[in-house]
Amino acid sequence: MIPVWVQVLYLFAAVCFILALKGLSSPKTARRGNLLGAGAAVVATAAVFFERPLDNIVPILVAVGAGTVLGAVGARRVQMTQMPQLVALFNGVGGGAAAIVAVLELNGLAGDAGAPPVVAGAAAFTAAVGSVSFAGSVVTFAKLQGLMTTRPVVFPGLPLLFGAALLAAVITALLAAVGPGRMSGAALAALGLLAGVLLVLPVGGADVPIVISLLNAFTGITVAAGGYVLGNVLLLIAGTLVGASGTLLTVLMARGMGRSVLNTLFGALKGGSTLGAGTASDRPVRSAGPEDVAIMLGYASRVIIVPGYGLAVAQAQHALRELGDVLMERGVEVDYAIHPVAGRMPGHMNVLLAEAQVPYEQLVEMDEINPEFKRSDVVLVVGANDVVNPAAKTTPGAPIYGMPILQVDDAKQIVFMKRSMRPGFAGIENELLFDPKTTLLFGDAKETMEKLLSAVKAL
Ligand code: TAP
Repeated sequence: MIPVWVQVLYLFAAVCFILALKGLSSPKTARRGNLLGAGAAVVATAAVFFERPLDNIVPILVAVGAGTVLGAVGARRVQMTQMPQLVALFNGVGGGAAAIVAVLELNGLAGDAGAPPVVAGAAAFTAAVGSVSFAGSVVTFAKLQGLMTTRPVVFPGLPLLFGAALLAAVITALLAAVGPGRMSGAALAALGLLAGVLLVLPVGGADVPIVISLLNAFTGITVAAGGYVLGNVLLLIAGTLVGASGTLLTVLMARGMGRSVLNTLFGALKGGSTLGAGTASDRPVRSAGPEDVAIMLGYASRVIIVPGYGLAVAQAQHALRELGDVLMERGVEVDYAIHPVAGRMPGHMNVLLAEAQVPYEQLVEMDEINPEFKRSDVVLVVGANDVVNPAAKTTPGAPIYGMPILQVDDAKQIVFMKRSMRPGFAGIENELLFDPKTTLLFGDAKETMEKLLSAVKAL
């Protein structure tokens, strides 16, 4: 019997998890929400030690200590642009841990004729899906970290092999539910690992974040099922929250990129996108120096800034905010157009601009800002490319075809700040760079932004 005070702590932690999620839904309260969730996780972890007498306390404490140090050092060292990889790795570890627990539970139930089928079934589900989540997350990490190609990897027979692994996992899980054998857990884990790798291999680079979110949802559901097996209500609640929020995020991100989740996962098997070689164009473009662009900006009445991945790489957000402030002091109306998948993670631009203390009211979401481009004199595109690339509307077969974009081509003048003619994440040329109303301001966004700022101040 779990002591009442431990149950009260679990309830407290569960309420904190829900409030943490609520806090994460707005940039203003996100930091507090994150701290609340992390604090609740510490309380919940500590409470487990008092639930019932535990064996092997020393190895458990050593493992907790090692995990804490690795997690803290990893999170502190990681660049913000590498956050998706870190999330993938942490998520994979969660799924893997749940799978190991389930395999051990199945081994414990092996040969027990009285094992309740629902419990054995839930353990079988956890072992298989947790392994999918672990293996899939490792592959997404390798793709995003550049340890393997980011292009879809497809080989003849992949769909068949994937289907066979899934079918074998379902049959093994059903058999394990009615009578778990000694090898049920290991077989399910092996099939899950195979299915996880085969699920993620055909997913191309631009879609990898959607898959990370999907695997995150898998881990959540796995942990919830694990909570049921272990009779731990808190794991059940926390896993359900992660599963539900991960599912919602997956659907929202897929919508942001104009794809269905199924198309994201299996598009490459049907032929998928045909473009995306990623080479720099040598076609002529119009370029200018910071002084020329400063004149354009200083005499505009409406400027819209489009931030993208390059802004994060260059860490130019503080100089950008200062530029926005100086322009506003000169009477220019300034807004920041936020595309849902600009950068490399959900909310990347919001976090970056919030860090530079750009007021939230100036961050305008895509649907709201799109009709405004017609009214703008200059659009300043800072390190963004795919999210403004008209190929999303005009080029069937492009990796971003169907993705809603920021309609910057409606503006009177467009300035792109980037270092070269290299394409963005999707690896395809952007016709807008060659448009007669486009000017390129070449250079690292931070250096050029500082020069541009000085030039605007000197007007
Ligand atoms: P991208 O299309 O990747 O374009 C980034 C641009 O920044 C490039 O043109 C690059 O050109 C420039 N750049 C890089 N470093 C720079 C620096 N130091 N200074 C100045 N410019 C620099 O970015 P985006 O428009 O934000 O689009 C995001 C893409 O990532 C989409 O394809 C999206 O699907 C994908 N994606 C999104 C997410 C989420 S959830 N946000 C996650 C993963 C992938 P140069 O090399 O010439 O400088």
